[in-house]
Amino acid sequence: MKVLSILDIDKNLLKGKRIFLRVDFNVPIENDIVVDDYRIIKSLATIRYLLDLGCILILASHLSRPKGINLNYSLKPVAKHLSNLLNKEVKFIEIYESNYIDYLKKVQNEVLKLKSGDVLVLENLRFSEGEEKNDTTLIDELYKLGEIYVNDAFGTSHRKHASVYGLALKYNIRLAGILMKNEIDYLYKVKENPTKPFYSIIGGAKVIDKIKVLENLIKVSDKMLIGGAMAYTFLKVKNVPIGNSLVDSESFEFAKEFLEKYQNKVILPIDHVVKNSVIKEVENIEENYLGMDIGSRTIELFKKELSNAKMIFWNGPLGKFEEKEFSNGTIEIAKYLSKLTKDGTITVIGGGDTVSAIHMANLKDEDFSHVSTGGGATLEFISGEEMPGIEVLKNV
Ligand code: 3PG
Repeated sequence: MKVLSILDIDKNLLKGKRIFLRVDFNVPIENDIVVDDYRIIKSLATIRYLLDLGCILILASHLSRPKGINLNYSLKPVAKHLSNLLNKEVKFIEIYESNYIDYLKKVQNEVLKLKSGDVLVLENLRFSEGEEKNDTTLIDELYKLGEIYVNDAFGTSHRKHASVYGLALKYNIRLAGILMKNEIDYLYKVKENPTKPFYSIIGGAKVIDKIKVLENLIKVSDKMLIGGAMAYTFLKVKNVPIGNSLVDSESFEFAKEFLEKYQNKVILPIDHVVKNSVIKEVENIEENYLGMDIGSRTIELFKKELSNAKMIFWNGPLGKFEEKEFSNGTIEIAKYLSKLTKDGTITVIGGGDTVSAIHMANLKDEDFSHVSTGGGATLEFISGEEMPGIEVLKNV
């Protein structure tokens, strides 16, 4: 995929320039403290690379989905957190104005005073309604902030928003950051040209949310292992007893056809951790019991299968991992994937809940080949959906 990154162009073109850097700092914050800085950490490579070149950085992100200006969603705690991570001052200009455009006019004046190596975090882009509408007035004002456009916000690249799309189009030099480049390289490989044998592991709650992911991935997968609540929908259409386990009845037809077409590729759980008034491990789920996690025989089966893979993509927990009693399957598979990574298997972890699960298993990003920062973006990329924030980087 022809996307130019900051690593691909002559450093002299970047040296000392004022960079508009779109990041995805949509991170959980509680009581003004960032409680999970995974996405911020992943952007540090880009930030440090540009700072080493003496650039001035204007960092812009959204946070959550506020309707208009709402200081509960201020990026101020993020600026503070970034300052701690970088061990240097990070400027943050507070918003007192009643609209974001007036705020940007104030920021434009301040930006002119910045010196080489300065870092400034803008207030939440979604305080402007124009952000989600890809509005030209907002785009024109944002354009005055930087001389070069860099996008490291992979997690937002499925949105056709002002800072992700329309703004990029205005720049002659628009580049991917290091995080964005890694995401594109790994996920493109998963989708188009995985190293074989390639195994995918898909979990999570509902089949309906992942139909396109399943359809796309099965084409390139040698085997697909399915767990999580969505496995019960597949087991149900095979007439395997599932008791009261969650099913997704609107996906029955899809699940049936999928299994018929790919019966040699799909591997489903063979035992389960179930709950009613008690929690137990069973092969057949009785009436009134609910399947909550894959059982130990399934864990062994999955591990045996995965040992044949040269590349693995995993999206979605294999049980209700937020509850300790039902986290074993997800944790065991996460640990096994980290072991396989050490042995040379390429492992790609596909964002969202799966990332929370590997962190819960006390594993780090370095234990895998690539851990995606995207939630919806990763799934849309794998589904083959158009990614406006990436498409726009191709047109250089
Ligand atoms: C995410 O967390 O998935 C991204 O930051 C995108 O956020 P959004 O779904 O609110 O556009």
